[in-house]
Amino acid sequence: MNPVLENSDIGVIGLGVMGLNLALNIADKGFNVVAYEKNPNLLAIAIETAPSLFCCDDLQTFVHNIKRPRSILLMITAGPAIDEILGNLKPFLLKDDVIIDAGNSNYKDSLRRESLLYKNDIKYIGLGVSGGAKGARYGPAIMAGGDYPSYAKIEPILSSIAARTKSNDICAVHLGTSSGVGHFVKMMHNGIEYADMQIICECYSLLTIGMGLDAEKSSKVFESWSRSELSSFLIEITSLILKYIDQDSKKPLIDLIADNAEQKGTGKLASIAALELGVSAPSIFEAVSARVISSLKSERIKASAIFEKPNIVSTKLNLNILKNALFAAKICSYAQGFAVLRAADDYYKWNMEFFQIAKVWRAGCIIRADFLDDVAEAFVQNPSLSNLIIAPHFSSILKETIPSLRTVVKWSVSRGIPNPVFSASLAYFDSYTSSLLPANLIQAQRDYFGSHGYERLDKQGTFHTDWE
Ligand code: 6PG
Repeated sequence: MNPVLENSDIGVIGLGVMGLNLALNIADKGFNVVAYEKNPNLLAIAIETAPSLFCCDDLQTFVHNIKRPRSILLMITAGPAIDEILGNLKPFLLKDDVIIDAGNSNYKDSLRRESLLYKNDIKYIGLGVSGGAKGARYGPAIMAGGDYPSYAKIEPILSSIAARTKSNDICAVHLGTSSGVGHFVKMMHNGIEYADMQIICECYSLLTIGMGLDAEKSSKVFESWSRSELSSFLIEITSLILKYIDQDSKKPLIDLIADNAEQKGTGKLASIAALELGVSAPSIFEAVSARVISSLKSERIKASAIFEKPNIVSTKLNLNILKNALFAAKICSYAQGFAVLRAADDYYKWNMEFFQIAKVWRAGCIIRADFLDDVAEAFVQNPSLSNLIIAPHFSSILKETIPSLRTVVKWSVSRGIPNPVFSASLAYFDSYTSSLLPANLIQAQRDYFGSHGYERLDKQGTFHTDWE
């Protein structure tokens, strides 16, 4: 495309996989896109493969090619690289220009950057973009936070590139006027994603290690579940992954993949946010922990030589019980994710509409599932719902499915098969639904050694006892 000054509708900085795919998606929808990439190899690939983009490696040319007030979308690695590019852009930016950070930035960084840029009348939008490379290219889920008039300016672009549900609803939404909202909601999407992926992984473990099903038979189980109330992108790809045959060995590829999970850290950030906000999210914590323990392969091999697994006659788990257990653990995990969102909304006063969060996750993102229609409806029925577990729709499902989760946890525990998120989800449910917990002893212990005081059931006030 010939560079004509100030004719681009938007500028995109960062032509890695996500940035290039997003820029191509925007260009496909008829918008003029100018792109900037400092890495010569990535720039060369973009120039060669994306004739619809005007690609350059000079920031001044890049900025001067964007219609005023400018919209500049960043798709670069979260962290210092963003502060660096903002510093490099600063001399060229003018009042009311808009910076849109579409990476997985820490929401606290977004809040900091927004207030810094605001001093120079530059607007800042935190954009959660979910769906991986394919989502970026053909339809991501987009969670925006930041200055609403600035969002309104780019809304036509975002709505045109976003994923759509089966009923053609657009999965792009402005969730709050703070830039931190977009990245916080995306972070919690990833926290829930970790838990969702781990419970599927635990089902896979029970099918294969627990019951001896091979990859092909396990694939068929997930395929049947993908036609049930459990249908989701993650269940669907799991079925496809399990039946994929490695061309070299002619064996199921899944059987040849190393069992150490990696993580870019989005689930960890969600766990930190939950703890900082004082919210219990054990399914998310345990999903992160499961990835960490899986990375300790050599230690696990050593330890497995010391301790034998219980030798239990392997009665088969009823597959319907396993499916119900998965559903119960999923509900408990999502309940925790939304509890963290609730706490953040209360703390930061973002005034988020929770049904909108569930609705934007119905297509395009990694946790997309029909299930989210019911989550959205629960928050439509009760916008101040404290926890999904007590929403009528979900409490009736849990009454049916929690016994299955209990059976599965017992089955796996008695065989020494680790099911950290199944177990954490059940413990979360049992704790959240207990009117009496043993925390009175915690209070007594804290008062014994730390004189921290305690409340009583029979009297108002705070008390301390000289226990010795
Ligand atoms: C998405 C994904 C994406 C995530 C990668 C890696 O919503 O498109 O969640 O944002 O960063 O899938 O995630 P982990 O390395 O943390 O598993």
